[in-house]
Amino acid sequence: MYIRSKYIAMNPIQMVDLKAQYLRMKDDVDAAIHEVIDATAFINGPAVQFFQKELETYLDCRNVIPCANGTDALQIAMMALGFKPGDEVITASFTYVATAEVIALLGLTPVLVDVHPETFNIDPEAVERAITSRTVAIVPVHLFGQCAPMEQLLEIARKHNIHIIEDTAQAIGAEYRFSDGKARKAGTMGTIGATSFFPSKNLGCYGDGGAIFTQDDALAAKIRMIANHGQRVRYYHDEIGVNSRLDTIQAAILRVKLKQLDDYASRRNALAKRYDEAFSALPFLKIPKRSDFSTHVFHQYTLITEGIDREALKKHLEEAHVPAMIYYPVPLHMQKAYTSERYTEGAFPVTEDLCARVISLPMHTEMQEDQLLHIIDTIRSFKY
Ligand SMILES: Cc1ncc(COP(=O)(O)O)c(C=O)c1O
Repeated sequence: MYIRSKYIAMNPIQMVDLKAQYLRMKDDVDAAIHEVIDATAFINGPAVQFFQKELETYLDCRNVIPCANGTDALQIAMMALGFKPGDEVITASFTYVATAEVIALLGLTPVLVDVHPETFNIDPEAVERAITSRTVAIVPVHLFGQCAPMEQLLEIARKHNIHIIEDTAQAIGAEYRFSDGKARKAGTMGTIGATSFFPSKNLGCYGDGGAIFTQDDALAAKIRMIANHGQRVRYYHDEIGVNSRLDTIQAAILRVKLKQLDDYASRRNALAKRYDEAFSALPFLKIPKRSDFSTHVFHQYTLITEGIDREALKKHLEEAHVPAMIYYPVPLHMQKAYTSERYTEGAFPVTEDLCARVISLPMHTEMQEDQLLHIIDTIRSFKY
């Protein structure tokens, strides 16, 4: 144990080890960055179009529109669908704030609903109950790397003639299997998909980045126009738009990393399996459930604590230099900025319970065996 502690001090464990990942592909990434600098093609350079095409092929999606970040991707999607102030958009109460933020920013009404207690994803029955005559869209978030129940959600959307905008910031590469056996990649099933290339995401760049996906060519043209100041022809602005571009340098880096995305997902799954094996018999932890209709790309490995003081476990981990994070500590409906007379504390019991009990462990593609053993030993030695 002493020898391992010394090893851990010299090789600190990170939630996401971006440095180790960079070192593994340094030559390719450096060459890609230098090519952009040599060409001084910083804005809309060739790498942006190449990346767009490569991602379209990877996702089997007719249109990928790169943009500046995942929050913009969601906002532009809602602008392109022409939603008007007062329109209602349903999303999960257990998600990152960006999802609800853009709904509110556009003057739309975020309508939050509860999630499934084991998969953490939006509950279709709660969605159905929340639909009114003003509902224009559902925004399922494929949380922590696993698809929301899309088949049911698509059916609800069809029935009520509303849109689905998939927030796939955490699940790029995950695959959904329909009951007829057909499979589709996360983000390509709804009217629009929105993703983020934030550095710690499964497909992360070296700054900010995002993209919008759609199978609809006419909608893609509109999205492209809105992301480019509302112009199709330079200096002729048909609509109010935004300025949201993916930098060429980021696109060049993403081209290198996209080639490895499936390999990363396998490594993340291998690590998750080791965690599962180590923790499944512990009475104070529940390992993450896999849905039978989706692959998991483990953006996060999130455990549910049972009958213990979560803070005590977190402290125990910190003392052993094992980082852990709480995604997310406060439900959206209890955030100061999003409180509403619609919801009171207790409105979403599953979300509130999860926020009090979940804990996420380091999850990345460069975990060393000694680091993993140290995390496992530390958790197993927790006295409760
Ligand atoms: C679920 C979800 N949606 C949206 C976003 C926003 O992405 P970005 O940080 O690129 O704006 C994130 C990422 O942080 C996210 O996790």
